[in-house]
Amino acid sequence: MTLKEKIEQLKQQRNAVILAHYYTESEVQDAADFVGDSLALAQRAATTEADTILFAGVHFMGETAKILSPEKTVLMPDMAAGCSLADSCRAEEFGAFVAAHPDHTVISYVNTTAEVKALTDIVCTSSNAIQIVESLPAGEPIIFGPDRNLGNYIKNVTGRENMLIWDGACHVHEEFSLEKILALKAEHPEAKILTHPECKRPIVLVSDYVGSTAGLLKFAAEDRSADTYIVVTEPGVLHQMKKAAPGKRFIPAPPTDSTCGCNNCNYMKLVTLQKMADALERMEPQIVVPEEVRVRAEGAIRRMLDISQRLGLV
Ligand code: 13P
Ligand code: SF4
Repeated sequence: MTLKEKIEQLKQQRNAVILAHYYTESEVQDAADFVGDSLALAQRAATTEADTILFAGVHFMGETAKILSPEKTVLMPDMAAGCSLADSCRAEEFGAFVAAHPDHTVISYVNTTAEVKALTDIVCTSSNAIQIVESLPAGEPIIFGPDRNLGNYIKNVTGRENMLIWDGACHVHEEFSLEKILALKAEHPEAKILTHPECKRPIVLVSDYVGSTAGLLKFAAEDRSADTYIVVTEPGVLHQMKKAAPGKRFIPAPPTDSTCGCNNCNYMKLVTLQKMADALERMEPQIVVPEEVRVRAEGAIRRMLDISQRLGLV
């Protein structure tokens, strides 16, 4: 029996669903029931009828699933699959920052721990961050955390001046090199540059389209004006881009040091078929969120899902 067949068999036994993020390995994505961006994955986790969710992604994604579906078992293939962006915002420090600005509405990116979400009024993802900010009255003072690049991007797009931005970042998206992207563009002048908003501003400024992983995928599949794309995000997303648009060419943007492979998210790449099979067999490791934290975090995530649903984003 192949590993994929074993996973399939265990999945039936456990009445489990496998949710995978676009940044995981291609074979992991191919073994999943649903592959999506953070917003779509949260929405699936909230509505699935399975008893068990195997989350092929990173820890904050599994936590989000558990917060939304506390009665379900949420399994992670590897508990060490963390996130440098979530790590850049510790709950104690963020809590002190929030307490120092009590009149501000707190918007946190989904790439945060459950404890940080519990300090938050509304969660957002890169798919809906602009709409979540715009859903608040003009002039409303906002704290946005933890990604400084996404925060500055939203501030520029919405023109909201009254925004305090936490100084966090993702080590993968910070590594992309503007120089190398421009050199690639010079080699392929017809190519369009597609960029995730966690990238630094100079890269955003030279891009043809900026959006979440699902947004980049949709643009690449629907765009009729080019057939070559320079993709400035984690290259795992290329797997679905190639499936959605087989006739097009997708070039992953290189990091500053081309030899380090650090445009790959080392956390997402910890997820393997073997670890997925092991987790389903042993029914561990499981995500646990203390109930008082979970309840407060759930309110902030549900607010995001409600706004997204109202606006037709999910
Ligand atoms: P998406 O919201 O586009 O899925 O991004 C998640 C992420 O981790 C980006 O680094
Ligand atoms: Fe976190 Fe960056 Fe990896 Fe996304 S790519 S999971 S933000 S470390």
